[in-house]
Amino acid sequence: MSHQLEKVKELIQLRQQARLGGGERRIESQHKKGKYTARERIALLLDEGSFEEFDMFVQHRSSNFGIEEETYLGDGVVTGYGTIDGRLVYVYAQDFTVFGGSLSETVSLKICKVMDQAMKMGAPVIGINDSGGARIQEGINALAGYAEIFQRNVLASGVIPQISGIFGPCAGGSVYSPALTDFNIMTKGTSYMFLTGPKVVKSVLGEDVSQEQLGGASIHASKSGVAHFATDSEEEGLMLIRKLLGFMPQNCLEEAPLLACKDPFDRLEDSLNDIIPDQPNKAYDMYEVIGAIVDNGEFLEVHKDYAANIIVGFTRFNGISVGLVANQPKVLAGVLDSNSSRKAARFIRFCDAFNIPIVTLVDVPGFLPGTQQEYGGVILHGAKLLYAYGEATVPKVTVTLRKSYGGAYCVMSSKHLRGDINYAWPSAEIAVMGPAGAIEVLFGKEMAASSDPVAFAAEKESEYKEKFANPYNAAKYGYIDDVIEPRNTRFRIIRALQQLATKKLTNPPKKHDNLPL
Ligand code: HXC
Repeated sequence: MSHQLEKVKELIQLRQQARLGGGERRIESQHKKGKYTARERIALLLDEGSFEEFDMFVQHRSSNFGIEEETYLGDGVVTGYGTIDGRLVYVYAQDFTVFGGSLSETVSLKICKVMDQAMKMGAPVIGINDSGGARIQEGINALAGYAEIFQRNVLASGVIPQISGIFGPCAGGSVYSPALTDFNIMTKGTSYMFLTGPKVVKSVLGEDVSQEQLGGASIHASKSGVAHFATDSEEEGLMLIRKLLGFMPQNCLEEAPLLACKDPFDRLEDSLNDIIPDQPNKAYDMYEVIGAIVDNGEFLEVHKDYAANIIVGFTRFNGISVGLVANQPKVLAGVLDSNSSRKAARFIRFCDAFNIPIVTLVDVPGFLPGTQQEYGGVILHGAKLLYAYGEATVPKVTVTLRKSYGGAYCVMSSKHLRGDINYAWPSAEIAVMGPAGAIEVLFGKEMAASSDPVAFAAEKESEYKEKFANPYNAAKYGYIDDVIEPRNTRFRIIRALQQLATKKLTNPPKKHDNLPL
């Protein structure tokens, strides 16, 4: 065998060794836990055969506690690039088979390299987390490594899409990288995120709590809002990342892909002309409206199980990628509260950062009153939503279906927050407050003095409704551009989006904003 052939053979062997990560025993243990290895995850995520790996021969440089005796090619993370639906993406996947995927100086350098590369190329970065946290033997260098990653997450925010999959442990300070990224996907039963684990919780607070209860996927998807999605399997999570990216541009200077659409753009939905119940306090399901108007009824909902009184997610209108925000009358009557405000605000800011138009469907009775909300800072959280709509410069199309009262009218992409096209259904009620409340405030004393308070209130309410609780009063002032037939909503939204395709609007120059945090 020639000298060169021997060298090639050695290369092939080294590659094989690197691909085994921490070895077959640990790969088997990973599989027994119902988890894929880092390389298997990348293979499932990317277009077949598109992955090119970086830094396969990197090894850790630590020498504490005998760790110098134990080295693995590639150290605890697999990094590189590939394509998803033919589009360039950068990826890293922590390798739990190597020191539990813990973060060493060299692991951090590898992750930072793909992040830097993604920024230079203007391509999304996807990180798969499955790690025991900072590599304990490395001490400060591991902590420094985390901070280097966080800094890059911050600088990349709003420049390139950043998506995190959490497919195993993610604890301690390591939770902050996913928290800084745009979307977190957790797998049910195999992933958890928390700042301190159950043992510390027990010793500090005396609380008994399991890992799952403290920071499992379902908890973060429904209670904390840290996870945008909770999936039943890793495959589902990885396919979701692929799907999600399809709605996004590669970076903040580009537009999302425009898809060919077979669903007729002028499709009429007769059922919508009769969807609003006669009684104002009766709910209908906003998902029915969404399903009826978007392309092929397809909607990728974000934060499905968190603050369900507002619905947010990605969809398409005639192939145009859109961020959809809608009040849900079926949950808490669609009222705005702290959590729903924060949820929608974050989603709107993502869409605006990445040039994705926003369509808003309004049916909102107002903001939720009470001490619980006030003590929880609903003023600030509501202001976040207002801020997000107000600063957004992407095309904004709003349709008011029924209620739009008080501050919630202003907030929900109103004309005054630079809504570009504001439509209303004939069933819309746009006023300072609902009829019953208004009559109580205006005529409370007269009502009490009246011989028939019920008849008195009914008469005044009907007068109020006629005057204010309709779309024509707002349309009279041009705050509503047109009152549309509900069955025509899909067509009118598509026309509006097409008209707004060349929209140019910029905010005043500034160092950065001061969002009410
Ligand atoms: C070095 C680690 C490690 C770590 C795990 N391993 N975590 N090595 N540093 N942080 C190694 C184990 O020694 C073991 O090696 C292998 O990874 C697998 O770990 P197991 O414990 O056998 O796996 P499992 O039973 O599944 O438990 C997983 C785990 C547990 C729950 C993550 O390993 C664990 O509690 N690890 C420590 C977590 C932690 O406290 N990290 C520091 C957090 S503080 P062998 O050779 O047997 O395969 C932190 C600060 C960051 O991260 C701050 C950033 C700002």
